[in-house]
Amino acid sequence: MKEHDFSSWALDTLLVHSNKLNHTSSNSGQPTVEPISTSTTYLHRNAEMLDQAFSGISPSGEPAYVYARQGNPNAQALEKILAQAENGVGAVVFGSGMAAIHAALLASGLAPGSKILAAQDLYGPTIGMLRAIFVPVGVEVVLHDLCSPNVIEIVRAEQPDVMYVETLSNPLAKVIDLDAISSTAKEVGAVSIVDSTFTTPYIIKPIDHGFDIVIHSATKYLGGHGDATAGVVISAHNNIVEQLHGYATMLGAMLSPFDSYLITRGLKTLALRMERQCHNAVVISQFLQKHKAVERVHYPGLPSHPQHDLASRLLMNHRYGGLLAFELKEQTREAAFHFMDKLQLCLPATTLGDVYSEVSYPAMSSHRNLTTVERQKFGITDGCIRFSVGIEDVNDILHDLDQALLS
Ligand SMILES: Cc1ncc(COP(=O)(O)O)c(C=O)c1O
Repeated sequence: MKEHDFSSWALDTLLVHSNKLNHTSSNSGQPTVEPISTSTTYLHRNAEMLDQAFSGISPSGEPAYVYARQGNPNAQALEKILAQAENGVGAVVFGSGMAAIHAALLASGLAPGSKILAAQDLYGPTIGMLRAIFVPVGVEVVLHDLCSPNVIEIVRAEQPDVMYVETLSNPLAKVIDLDAISSTAKEVGAVSIVDSTFTTPYIIKPIDHGFDIVIHSATKYLGGHGDATAGVVISAHNNIVEQLHGYATMLGAMLSPFDSYLITRGLKTLALRMERQCHNAVVISQFLQKHKAVERVHYPGLPSHPQHDLASRLLMNHRYGGLLAFELKEQTREAAFHFMDKLQLCLPATTLGDVYSEVSYPAMSSHRNLTTVERQKFGITDGCIRFSVGIEDVNDILHDLDQALLS
């Protein structure tokens, strides 16, 4: 069998044939799918080989395992795929997106006296983690509107040690200028971290835009089927990857073999799913924009979106993601609840990125800990609905939205 040149493969080919990354030999009887290795412990021929296995590499150069918390074949197979998909030097998978965020913040070097500058509209629990875990040990947390045209001046004035952003904001899908953030972070000597959960490597690879660390909640688009909770951190630097492995082991935050298998399986259709979800999102946002019960639509794929040009420059494949938000004409909690209760196809689910279309009400879910005034400051009105577009036939989605909006 000829050796494969994996580095030349496009993302969709890489994800479908990912098992070849882990089995390059021409042994006959090789499985096409990585078997699930449930063992917590691995035996070696003698004590000398066991000793060597603690380094993670066998004498023949193959990966070696000792104890599942330190690594298992399914997690390691997934790490290889995600590192290559994001053009990183390595990746570490975790038991959830939050565990991945925690480890990334630790690996960024945050310590007593250091300062992190983060986008003010990050996923709520990320801000919660910064305040509950990092502020008490002496880290200064500064939040700013980093979609502002003055972002370069803000970074220069704050002189942070670490910068933390998300590719698209939740729920209004505001776009952040990753090139401006990473270059100014370099200028001031800050480590740059981006949570790319909403975009995936199908539409942006932040390491190519100069970022040091990329995070995903793999629970969302990467897994895609709503049946596995997982996170991943990919880095452009070997020393950071090593630290991440250390934190995963010490904190016991490893991803289980079965969930690693589910995410690996989900990834095979990531490109197909994203293509459909992004296409459906354009059609749905155009439909909602003209609907008499809708006040406003937030979707970077619409030419009317204030950052449409920036999104077109940053995002690949002329795709703008599968997530949008819209505001009902009647801007009340009652109207939003009524709309959600009338849906027959779309699921009222507090998640995103699945094959199913899912609606959530940010004031009740992701932004429930903010006051109405704070939410309004971020532009999240009481009539705001977040919509994660699924892979269903778009006409069925439109029909469901229409009947719920008019009922
Ligand atoms: C942008 C973003 N990052 C991280 C997370 C946390 O991921 P998990 O729920 O897998 O811990 C979420 C969850 O919704 C999210 O939306």
